[in-house]
Amino acid sequence: MVNLRISYDIGIISRHGQRGTVPRGTMRDSLVVVNFKTYQTAHGACAEDLARAMASIDTGARMVAAVSALDLSAVVAAAPGLEVWCQHLDPVGFGSNTGWVNPETAMERGASGTLINHAEHKVSLEHVAMLMEQIPDGFHVCACAADIHEARALAALEPSFVAVEPPELIGGETSVTSADPEIVSGTAQAVREVSTRVGILCGAGIKTGKDVAKAIELGTSGVLLASGVTKSEDPRASLIDLVSLL
Ligand code: G3P
Repeated sequence: MVNLRISYDIGIISRHGQRGTVPRGTMRDSLVVVNFKTYQTAHGACAEDLARAMASIDTGARMVAAVSALDLSAVVAAAPGLEVWCQHLDPVGFGSNTGWVNPETAMERGASGTLINHAEHKVSLEHVAMLMEQIPDGFHVCACAADIHEARALAALEPSFVAVEPPELIGGETSVTSADPEIVSGTAQAVREVSTRVGILCGAGIKTGKDVAKAIELGTSGVLLASGVTKSEDPRASLIDLVSLL
């Protein structure tokens, strides 16, 4: 399968293994993926408001909203310029698949990518592999991993991104980049050993622009976060801070 990962490769490879100062320009390719989960502040009409807030941020970074399948259409309509992903998809087609989320329907409703195997919605490696087989070129898949071992296994399937998120740090106050920088740099190294085509993200406890900059310094292309925005008293201010060093 060939997809849109190629444009990221140059930046990712050049950053691989770097420590210390991030060279000028590399942060411009960075991703900030906001997972709306089922937070009350990020569902229904609030999801539309948050998506509009994301779309209004003046940044060169790539902003992505990962929304509930129920809110997908409304969010796409509310923020037409914003990249919108699902939080989960199933490797099913049209037919008798009650309650499953069909990728084709998601795409028709405006999704351009999806998370899969999030710590809060684990699936088998086979589920991810079957999904990868089914989706068309250019549709982004961000496979989430709890540790370096899982990240390596997922990278072999060549999703667009592997995001490492230690489950115990999700929703917490301490960023993975401070609490466990080795898992971030270790994942970057492990993924890169498996594939030069897979982008690397990290998440859990990411709240500030400094956390994002540190994530990139550790070898990623950006971050996957939720509560830093969805539980913020001023989500727009938090978004501005998150991209402030990019
Ligand atoms: O998908 C992102 C998420 O699991 C991290 O959540 O609240 O720690 O940013 P949070």
